[in-house]
Amino acid sequence: MNLIVGATGMLGGEICRLLREQGKAVRGLVRETSNPEKVARLKGLGAEVVRGDLKDRASLEAACRSASAVVSTASSTLSRQEGDSIESVDRQGQLDLIEAAEQAGVKHFVLISFPNVDVSFPLQSAKRAVEDRLRRGPMAYTILQPTFFTEVWLSPALGFDPAHATAQIYGGGHNKISWISFQDVARFAVAALDNPRAENAIIKLGGPDALSPLEVVALAEQATGKAVVVQHVPEEALRAQHGAATDSLQQSFAALMLYYAHGDAVDMTDTLRAFPVQHLKSVREYLQTTP
Ligand SMILES: NC(=O)c1ccc[n+]([C@@H]2O[C@H](COP(=O)([O-])OP(=O)(O)OC[C@H]3O[C@@H](n4cnc5c(N)ncnc54)[C@H](OP(=O)(O)O)[C@@H]3O)[C@@H](O)[C@H]2O)c1
Repeated sequence: MNLIVGATGMLGGEICRLLREQGKAVRGLVRETSNPEKVARLKGLGAEVVRGDLKDRASLEAACRSASAVVSTASSTLSRQEGDSIESVDRQGQLDLIEAAEQAGVKHFVLISFPNVDVSFPLQSAKRAVEDRLRRGPMAYTILQPTFFTEVWLSPALGFDPAHATAQIYGGGHNKISWISFQDVARFAVAALDNPRAENAIIKLGGPDALSPLEVVALAEQATGKAVVVQHVPEEALRAQHGAATDSLQQSFAALMLYYAHGDAVDMTDTLRAFPVQHLKSVREYLQTTP
């Protein structure tokens, strides 16, 4: 049995779908407040659904019972309810989940994190604390550290909207990023469950090409046939936002935007040798298939 915590999220939902496609047993943790359509979709896939919350330790113990693997994608950054915070969910909740999994005799824990960022911020401290705890425990661990998800950072929600001829770019836009599709992150997470080379490993993940935000804009212009008006959020503004933020979520977002401004090109040669995940989705494909 594979327990997926974050099963109603974008990445967790895709992991559930892929596991069910392979005929694997899936138990998705959902909350009272989770979107009913997403819960119905999980049930439709043939997944078992268990109610729980990362803030409710007893529910995690029940969810972990008889599971052999746990995959946790959950985060309070985009999907939050009252009482959810980086501290209560991304740090304490994940630490409690690891403990509950250990007590239930879970063999393998896959955590979705992100690469080291050269700026300190609450979400990063939470992720690193959880990674450290996992590395010190008895379960086999896989820590996946994907860079920027294409579908999130190249979406209108974050100001990238070539269909309406506008794009907001954080920083100067010249530094390259290995944008990765969440679908490919899901494929690596699923592959990690069966691949001995994923055991006790920290794996940085990127997509097939490293492209600067300005190069992405040029590709978007080709795809839509429209000129895009670029608006830059200067790095100084992001640094000021990071320095002045009183809220841990705001500070974390400012830091992630600074990380974007600095760029992150990931060499996937060794990882693709160890995990023969075929054909990573390119930004060009994403732009061509996104309305
Ligand atoms: N976006 C990026 O570029 C990027 C890059 C690298 C790594 N990541 C990592 O990827 C993961 C994000 O995955 P995603 O895109 O699937 O996020 P998402 O769509 O926002 O999903 C978040 C999931 O976490 C669940 N959750 C939140 N608070 C919870 C709580 N208190 N108890 C139980 N579940 C809770 C949500 O459940 P409800 O539906 O009930 O709210 C939802 O299932 C995060 O770990 C993030 O750090 C993201």
